[in-house]
Amino acid sequence: MRVKNKKFSTIWIDNREVKIIDQTKLPFEFKVQKLKSLNDFCTAISDMKVRGAPLIGVTAALGFAKSIEQNSSTLNIKKCYQKLLKTRPTAINLKWALDTIKKKLLKTIPSKRASLAFKLANLIRDDDIENCKQIGINGLKIIEQIYNKKKKPVNILTHCNAGWLATVDYGTALSPIFCANHAQIPLHVWVDETRPRNQGALLTSWELKNEKIPHTVIVDNAGGHLMQNGKVDLCLVGSDRTAMNGDVCNKIGTYLKAISAYENNIPFYVALPTSTIDRNLKNGSHIPIEIRDGKELSDLIFEKSKKLSTGRIYKNKTKTFNPAFDVTPSKFITALITENGICKADFSSIQRNLKV
Ligand code: MRU
Repeated sequence: MRVKNKKFSTIWIDNREVKIIDQTKLPFEFKVQKLKSLNDFCTAISDMKVRGAPLIGVTAALGFAKSIEQNSSTLNIKKCYQKLLKTRPTAINLKWALDTIKKKLLKTIPSKRASLAFKLANLIRDDDIENCKQIGINGLKIIEQIYNKKKKPVNILTHCNAGWLATVDYGTALSPIFCANHAQIPLHVWVDETRPRNQGALLTSWELKNEKIPHTVIVDNAGGHLMQNGKVDLCLVGSDRTAMNGDVCNKIGTYLKAISAYENNIPFYVALPTSTIDRNLKNGSHIPIEIRDGKELSDLIFEKSKKLSTGRIYKNKTKTFNPAFDVTPSKFITALITENGICKADFSSIQRNLKV
């Protein structure tokens, strides 16, 4: 996507160096950072300089490849795999990418491992771009249908950031929105602030502003009220891990939005590349939910005199609990949008979608 008229992706290779956009600074500062050591890759993921399920997977893949370039021994493959795997527990794309590479590396002689690892990591990156682009094309049909019926701007509610910043390019939930905007369908997006890290207010609104798409940031608790009062035509969110029965794990608060949409007869769609489907998971009850530092609730990042700082909004020692994701049962989900098409959130439909 474009930033000030220059085309960017979230992670790229420039002269054999891996570069990322540091998302902890957005939208206040646009900073590009080089990732060199395995540690750089691990902290970029755990400190959320890169975040969003597909992007975490691609970053881990490139980090794996970079590390194998230095040392292609079997011991190092296993060491890197474990270190990268521990960075964030919920998004399955991370494990999926690491498993894909590890399996092939272990079957290859050490002298050929470095080039193979890069080839595979690049393939994962390229596939992510193509898949997210296709999710946009597939999801566009849903927005188009609503517009053809309504003939007025389509109001879409989204949670967290499931835009191009959460992937390599195009995004998941925002990809159909970008497509609809290009197709000149009038839109308005309700952007959940998404406490505690405010990915909606900071990142999604920045993406929508760059694309000149009308949008409004709301507090996380406002969605139910808006749905009850006919202000939302559809909800569109992403996923960090989807079970084979269609249960969807996504940013904390997604579940409440889905219940509210169900209660108010509003379609609730989840957009995801198939790399987000955990083929070994029957349902969402065993998905590991990342618990992040409670400081994320009490210490807010803000801009003052063009500088970023952090300030406490709670009194010291207030007890906090910070689960980063929740699971939305499939019964609340209208359908899933993947690169392979639109499918119901149930076992047999997902199986068919995976085989396309
Ligand atoms: O904690 P984050 O910012 O990595 O969480 C991101 C989300 O929850 C997204 O909605 C999800 O990764 C799907 S979008 C590609």
